[in-house]
Amino acid sequence: MDKRIYLCLAHMSGKEQAFIQEAFDTNWVVPLGPNVNGFEEDLKQFVGQNKEVVALSSGTAAIHLALIACGVQAGDEVVCQSFTFCASANPVTYLGAVPVFVDSEPESWNMDPALLEQAILDRMARTGRTPKAIVVVALYGFPYRIEEIMEVANKYGIPVIEDAAEGLGSRWKGQVLGTFGAFGVLSFNGNKMITTSGGGALICPNAQAKQHIMWLATQAREAYPYYQHEAIGFNYRLSNICAGIGRGQMTILNEHIAHHKHIADMYREAFRQIKGITYHEAPSKAFDSNFWLSTILLDENLRVRGEKEAYAQAVQGAVGGAAGVVHGGGSIHTDCEPNPNVEAMRIQLDKAGIESRPLWKPMHTQPVFANCPAYINGVSEHLFRRGLCLPSGPMVSDEEVHYIISQIKNALL
Ligand SMILES: Cc1ncc(COP(=O)(O)O)c(C=O)c1O
Repeated sequence: MDKRIYLCLAHMSGKEQAFIQEAFDTNWVVPLGPNVNGFEEDLKQFVGQNKEVVALSSGTAAIHLALIACGVQAGDEVVCQSFTFCASANPVTYLGAVPVFVDSEPESWNMDPALLEQAILDRMARTGRTPKAIVVVALYGFPYRIEEIMEVANKYGIPVIEDAAEGLGSRWKGQVLGTFGAFGVLSFNGNKMITTSGGGALICPNAQAKQHIMWLATQAREAYPYYQHEAIGFNYRLSNICAGIGRGQMTILNEHIAHHKHIADMYREAFRQIKGITYHEAPSKAFDSNFWLSTILLDENLRVRGEKEAYAQAVQGAVGGAAGVVHGGGSIHTDCEPNPNVEAMRIQLDKAGIESRPLWKPMHTQPVFANCPAYINGVSEHLFRRGLCLPSGPMVSDEEVHYIISQIKNALL
């Protein structure tokens, strides 16, 4: 292959620039305007269920505002899926609240509903208080066991925030993720199902909640002819330029979903034939994943070329969208890391011009969250040690999938 194959690159419809041009032509170069309204309307139509949608500057901002809307305050506890990207948990700490991590169940890889209930009961026994919110995550687009999660949440009267940042277009029994709980979070970062370059949205239950979120996202301005503030707000609204990209992207969202699923079908079929590698499949038809990223697990006994030298060299720079940012690191090992055969596979694929990446490292194993309560069953650590994400986006062709699979086979001893 003469070009490098990335995990998930943005893909444009060709309609984005017309929306952006219109914003320039009409001088709507601000974080509000026709593209913001139009993008919100498109998203509203897509998610259905009579929900309202607020376009924001990021998925992280959406989680932050959802937590505030759920009444989370300093000193409160918020239950959060441990197996996720840090953005699911970080906003809890922005509020001075404490994340309580709950491990996953092995089929969806998302929050284990039985462990969730144990965690709630134990927190109530220890603190005398109920956690203020539950953040459940659609990891790699996979639906969570939403009916069971909602049953537990409703039993204890705790609002659920669905972090569907990776799960735009995934469905549980036909219903779009992000529309079951109190709030639903979407991300339009450069690597997501659609992009606005950077951006996010919060799915809200009704027009009143939407108004409240918009008020918080625009520095909490009171209705006066001058700037009057009676609460602390945020500058979290999406730019009208970025929203123009979003409107263009909405015209190809369904195509993107279909393409991710097509790539998933190709991988699934190929990995059936390879002993020692397990493709992450949907446990049943109810779990209609967008397959944002296709993921595999490598058996511990699978031997991979270069395994002995897998951790010989320190990595320069951070993983993912942090190009040019170098911070810390220094030592080669941490106390929880992918198995040597997984790291060796990552290196072999990298040499072949293919980007792959370990699964999210569970939050309860992150030093920054070392002091947070955690309810653990070993599932996410087990998966993290064995798993790898493979290139999956609309820019990945059938030919490239064949090449990736051939390179994976080549790397096996
Ligand atoms: C699970 C999850 N939650 C939240 C986010 C945050 O979204 P954003 O990057 O738009 O802030 C991301 C992605 O970046 C994510 O993968």
